[in-house]
Amino acid sequence: MARALYSGSFDPVTYGHIDIIKRASNIFDQVVVAVLNNKAKNPLFSVEERVNMLKETTKDLKNVKVTSFSGLLVDFAKEENINVIVRGLRAVTDFEYELQMAQTNHELLPEVDTMFLTTSILYSYVSSTIVREVASYHGDVSHFVPEYIAQKLYNKYDEIQKMHKV
Ligand code: PNS
Repeated sequence: MARALYSGSFDPVTYGHIDIIKRASNIFDQVVVAVLNNKAKNPLFSVEERVNMLKETTKDLKNVKVTSFSGLLVDFAKEENINVIVRGLRAVTDFEYELQMAQTNHELLPEVDTMFLTTSILYSYVSSTIVREVASYHGDVSHFVPEYIAQKLYNKYDEIQKMHKV
C-alpha cells in the first residue's frame, strides 16, 4: 500500500492545503496528515483544535487520516512506516526552505523522499499567516478557507479580544 505523509502547522488549514490533500489522496492509497505539535511556534489554535478542523474538512476523503506529531518528522515517518513526505510548493519563494527540509530529511532517514505538488494557481498566494492577519481584523476570508474554519477564526479572535478587555 502506497502511503504518504503530509505534515505542517495548519494554523489554520486553508484551501491551499485542502487542494494538496485531495490531490495526494488521488495518488496514494492513504495520506496521513500530521499536525506539528510545537509549543515553541506559539500557534493561534491548539494542536487538538487544528487536528479537529482538519478532520472536519477532510471527512469525505476516506483514505485520509489526521493526527499530530512532535519531535522530528522523520522519526514520525519511521514510526508510521511511511517513506514519502508530500509538500506543496506555492511559488519559487517556497523552494529554498522546502529543498533544505527535503534534503535534511533524506539525510536523516535515507529511505524517506519528499514529493512536491505544485499548489493550484487559485491558491498560490494563500498562506495561514495571511489568513490569520485578515481574520484578526474580521476581514472576509471566505476565498481562503471553508466557512467552518472562517467561523473558528472569528470566534478565536473574539475570545482573544474579550480576554484582553478583562
Ligand atoms: O506548515 P509548515 O510550518 O511549513 O510545516 C513545517 C513542518 C512541520 C513540516 C516542519 O517544521 C517539520 O517537519 N518540523 C518537525 C521538526 C523536524 O523534523 N525538523 C527537521 C526538518 S528540517
